Amino acid sequence: MRGGAGDVATGADPLDDLDRVLFHEGEIHRRLDELAERITADFRGKPLTVLAILNGSLVFMADLLRRIPLPLQLGCVSAASYHGGVESSGVLELGGLDRRVVDGRHVLLLDDILDSGLTLSGVAGRIREESDPLEIRSCVLLAKRKERPVEVAADYVAFEIRDEFVVGYGLDFAERYRNLPCVGVLRADVIAAAGR
Ligand code: IMP
Ligand code: MG
Repeated sequence: MRGGAGDVATGADPLDDLDRVLFHEGEIHRRLDELAERITADFRGKPLTVLAILNGSLVFMADLLRRIPLPLQLGCVSAASYHGGVESSGVLELGGLDRRVVDGRHVLLLDDILDSGLTLSGVAGRIREESDPLEIRSCVLLAKRKERPVEVAADYVAFEIRDEFVVGYGLDFAERYRNLPCVGVLRADVIAAAGR
């Protein structure tokens, strides 16, 4: 149900702020079954570390990991980009990298969404600079179909979507909606109200 202008973004149920649902929980889980099967086959017999990029990949990570029956290790890193001056190349600050779970291992980077690709390519670059993995591959829940300023493709993608802003299942808008069990598109009036 849609709220009136007065309860935009303040309604009791965050689902009410969605314009439409793109992927329901059941569909996401079915797709994760397929993805996990591929990942399990690809990394069987290899020392695997799953490295989740906080916070967006947390929900995705928890559901995906439990479908991969391998003796893997888990790490989390944070990524913050600073777009200083006119150059928007963006310096990426990597936090929380634990070399003990990365050095000499196959790393599978997990992120919620591939948008410009700057986060994924930046994080992979910093990991290579600061540690010694055997290999880095990447896996995202969502990839937007668009031109990217950097050449980056995720090795495993659960869903490709149009270039529009989505929330839920870990993805946020101003730190809200991460706990939605589905992925959906926010109502335009909710986004506009946040900008006022
Ligand atoms: P990129 O560096 O432009 O690829 O963006 C990566 C990060 O931007 C993601 O990890 C998200 O945190 C955020 N982001 C990009 N697109 C969306 C979206 O549609 N909804 C929510 N967050 C997004
Ligand atoms: Mg975010």
